[in-house]
Amino acid sequence: MAGRIPPEFIDDLLARTDIVDLINRRVPLRRGGKDFHACCPFHDEKTPSFTVSREKQFYHCFGCGAHGTAIGFLMDYEHQDFLDVVKDLASEAGLEIPRSGELVSKGPDPRPLYAMMEQAADLFRQQLRQHPSAVRAVGYLKGRGLSGEIAAAFGIGYAPPGWDFLLTRLGLDDETRSQLIQCGLVIDQDGRCYDRFRERIIFPIHDRRGRFIGFGGRILGDGKPKYLNSPETPIFHKSRELYGLYQALQANRKVERLLVVEGYMDVIALAQFGISYAVATLGTATTSEHLRQLLPQTPELVFCFDGDRAGRGAAWKALEISLPQTTGQQQIRFLFLPDGEDPDTLIRKEGQGAFEHRIRHAPSLSEFLFERLTDQVDMSSLDGKARLAALASPLIARVPKGLFRDMLNQRLASLVGVAAPQLEGGQTNARPTVRHPARRPPANRQATTPLRLAIALILQHPHLAPAATSIANDWRRLEKPGISLLNELIDLIESHPELTPASITERWRGRDSHHHLQRLADPQLLAHIPEDGLEAELIGALHRLLEETRAMHSEGLFNRASTAEWTEEEKMMLRRSILLRHHNKT
Ligand code: CTP
Ligand code: MN
Repeated sequence: MAGRIPPEFIDDLLARTDIVDLINRRVPLRRGGKDFHACCPFHDEKTPSFTVSREKQFYHCFGCGAHGTAIGFLMDYEHQDFLDVVKDLASEAGLEIPRSGELVSKGPDPRPLYAMMEQAADLFRQQLRQHPSAVRAVGYLKGRGLSGEIAAAFGIGYAPPGWDFLLTRLGLDDETRSQLIQCGLVIDQDGRCYDRFRERIIFPIHDRRGRFIGFGGRILGDGKPKYLNSPETPIFHKSRELYGLYQALQANRKVERLLVVEGYMDVIALAQFGISYAVATLGTATTSEHLRQLLPQTPELVFCFDGDRAGRGAAWKALEISLPQTTGQQQIRFLFLPDGEDPDTLIRKEGQGAFEHRIRHAPSLSEFLFERLTDQVDMSSLDGKARLAALASPLIARVPKGLFRDMLNQRLASLVGVAAPQLEGGQTNARPTVRHPARRPPANRQATTPLRLAIALILQHPHLAPAATSIANDWRRLEKPGISLLNELIDLIESHPELTPASITERWRGRDSHHHLQRLADPQLLAHIPEDGLEAELIGALHRLLEETRAMHSEGLFNRASTAEWTEEEKMMLRRSILLRHHNKT
């Protein structure tokens, strides 16, 4: 999607946005030298190692390695996606996003709808305290064990009886009435309008950023329908949103785990008893869209289900949906509750400790997968094992290629008693290795090769680019991963000398090399080089590349399309010739 917004627009946006102001409004910064500092918002620390550079328009944490541009900061800090961040920054800067593709749909301005939803939420909350008939509602909530504190934290409200409470308060003219209808708060039946929510407990639903997007309304006591929810609207999409995600992200600066449950009351009861990381789907099964929201936020995702047949079925569906998004980066678990319990009743009975004990011991995705499949076949017979392989293989094939899929294939292989390569076209190279940690440790803090060094220097100090083209530029034809990146970088800066390191990096967003560039933007890589030695260092690095190039020329190898065509002997010769040149120099 990033590609749909013209890169010049992102340049312009970043040029009008000051990262220091932007971060300072969220994390107060203190000046120290030419940079600004704070305790890092992305990890716990007591002494500030989080640094923001006005000159480079970059932030960087020396402690945890977090780093990026203003756009990257907002994406991580406010848990937004790229497009939302760009939209926000654009409206702050008074810019209109140019639409070069259909993907960036314009649509009517949704802001009045958000404002309307917020006013409605305020009114509902007020009614829970003020309306004469609210005693029953408060009594109901108390009867279910909710504390006033938790009710306030989740903004619980009350829609009073009657057909026109919101209509008369908020729908005073045609425009506001139309907004109420668009928000799903008022129903228009052939020109006769009435409030959707009447005499119900109101659970406001937020998006990740805390905007009010919908409501759930529960009847007081028994009766049907038990819940009445906002319909799909321009700002509310059930299959994407999760109840409680905003509160969970607010409560935990660094989310270690998210628990997916079924009901509003479950999320609230869990939070009241110390489990502040539960979220609920909105009366729908889990969708892949939900997972796309959840997985990037957490290293561990736990689905919680009833232990009954229906619960097991729902869990299996969640597993199937998870497979294409399972890379092993996150731990996924399946928690089954005892019969007749839901998280709300169980946490009230046994408390946080016992409940979290259950979570920690819940089967992982692979355990659940194999348990469930081996239950369906007779593992003592050859036919049963073949059947297991036939059932498991297509499921495992949905997992993205990589270590986790290899491990699943290996597990299957050991269960059926054959070697893993025979199960998947002979192309697995499964090696039992430790899990990838969810967050990569800070990158190796040295630009180890001349190429990496050259890219880091030019990226972090774009004014050096002309120096790179001032020397013989044979190196630009070197066949080496990364050379094209360096070439592109230099060309870009030549045609746009005004770009900051941040704007340059943003140009690569969405491409494979983006994360290479981000890593090479780490100022620590160049910390050992004094300011006035930067250019010499660049020239030195390019000279070393040049030598490699010339070595290839001298061996007559250079015109070969790619190094893959070289014989082992030729590669040896090349290596020797490079070594020799280094020797002659020193
Ligand atoms: N739900 C719904 N409409 C219904 C019933 C349920 O939208 N008629 C959705 C709600 O989001 C609800 C969830 O499904 O939170 C789970 O339903 P259920 O377990 O029946 O409700 P609880 O949240 O447990 O509510 P309570 O404890 O008050 O019965
Ligand atoms: Mn319940």
